[in-house]
Amino acid sequence: MPQKREISADKFAFGCHRFGFGPAPGGGLVDVEKHVIPLVKIAWESGIRTFDSAVLYRATLQLGQALEALKIDPNEIRFQTKCLRYLGLTMDTAVEHQPEALLQGIPRRYHGLTDKWDCSAKGVEQQICRERIEYGGDKLYGVALHDSPDMEKQVGLNWETDVSPAVAYLKAAKAAGFVERIGLGIKDPEFVHRFLANEPGSLDYAGLTFCPSILGQLMKIIDASNTQPFEVTLMGINYGQAFTLTEDPLTAPPFLYNYEVANAEERALMSRYYKICGSTPLLHLAAAVAGLLVVHFPKTMTQIVTSTMTPSRLVETMRLVREAEVPAPVWAELKAAELIPRDFPTS
Ligand SMILES: NC(=O)c1ccc[n+]([C@@H]2O[C@H](COP(=O)([O-])OP(=O)(O)OC[C@H]3O[C@@H](n4cnc5c(N)ncnc54)[C@H](OP(=O)(O)O)[C@@H]3O)[C@@H](O)[C@H]2O)c1
Repeated sequence: MPQKREISADKFAFGCHRFGFGPAPGGGLVDVEKHVIPLVKIAWESGIRTFDSAVLYRATLQLGQALEALKIDPNEIRFQTKCLRYLGLTMDTAVEHQPEALLQGIPRRYHGLTDKWDCSAKGVEQQICRERIEYGGDKLYGVALHDSPDMEKQVGLNWETDVSPAVAYLKAAKAAGFVERIGLGIKDPEFVHRFLANEPGSLDYAGLTFCPSILGQLMKIIDASNTQPFEVTLMGINYGQAFTLTEDPLTAPPFLYNYEVANAEERALMSRYYKICGSTPLLHLAAAVAGLLVVHFPKTMTQIVTSTMTPSRLVETMRLVREAEVPAPVWAELKAAELIPRDFPTS
């Protein structure tokens, strides 16, 4: 298939969360030599130079170990991470937050700890310094505030104590040259607008979990970037598993929609996409939408973060973003059903 969309390898970033959370293909613990090194190698050979992690992922040390084994200078990669959620002792009422199924893939050194929130300047400093030490390079290409809207849902969010101190610290770290860009790593697109209003001039990139069903919200964010310039990073394109389904989402076994088990309404919505797509896999639709965004909004849409534990799948995802075809009648029907915004450029 000829390359349909000109998208340089530089537009892709490799998401490292599975290096920590796993599980390894077939289940069980992640092993650096068996699982992490082959993935970092294929990403590097595919031209990817940006790697995305988070304090929460328990993944960055494994990335650093793989770079060392492959003799890749850590300063040759662009490493971006996320702070606020950190690993603390499971004491008193705190219990391990990750489900047993995920823990099987997490290296033992991270067991007996759980994720907590620390938005203080000291806390953020410790988190990002740990990340810098673990990957092994000199500075951080980006640091995103991780999941503030999730914090709001779980324990409440007070902007003055839970967001502003972290932003102030990251700005100082940026002025000192340790951090190159300040971002968001979030599942709720509306939070971008709140952040722009409350912390004007601070945002360099908005990292959003993405899939075609939030394209309308994404277009509003792209509009906002014309007034207050910042870049947009797609943190995944399948919304967990929603756009990888090959059977009707209405009746499929439980699947993840924006990293939570899909409810009845989300199943019904996905089923509408599935039925209109017909013989075009949902995976192809998600990849084509991501590719079109990068092609048509190059100043804003600078990164697609993708992840897998299977090297051939990384190659496949990059190919699909560049080449996946959605027939014109399918686009037309998706637009008529208002599942894709009418003005979205599809060629
Ligand atoms: N709140 C946040 O900040 C947040 C939340 C989520 C993700 N992220 C970031 O975004 C990165 C990407 O996340 P992601 O990879 O989960 O996003 P995604 O693009 O939504 O991918 C979801 C899943 O699709 C599957 N997939 C890919 N190609 C496939 C194929 N050909 N057939 C069937 N399934 C296929 C992959 O499964 P396999 O892995 O089994 O291949 C992958 O785990 C993460 O590494 C993380 O850095 C951030």
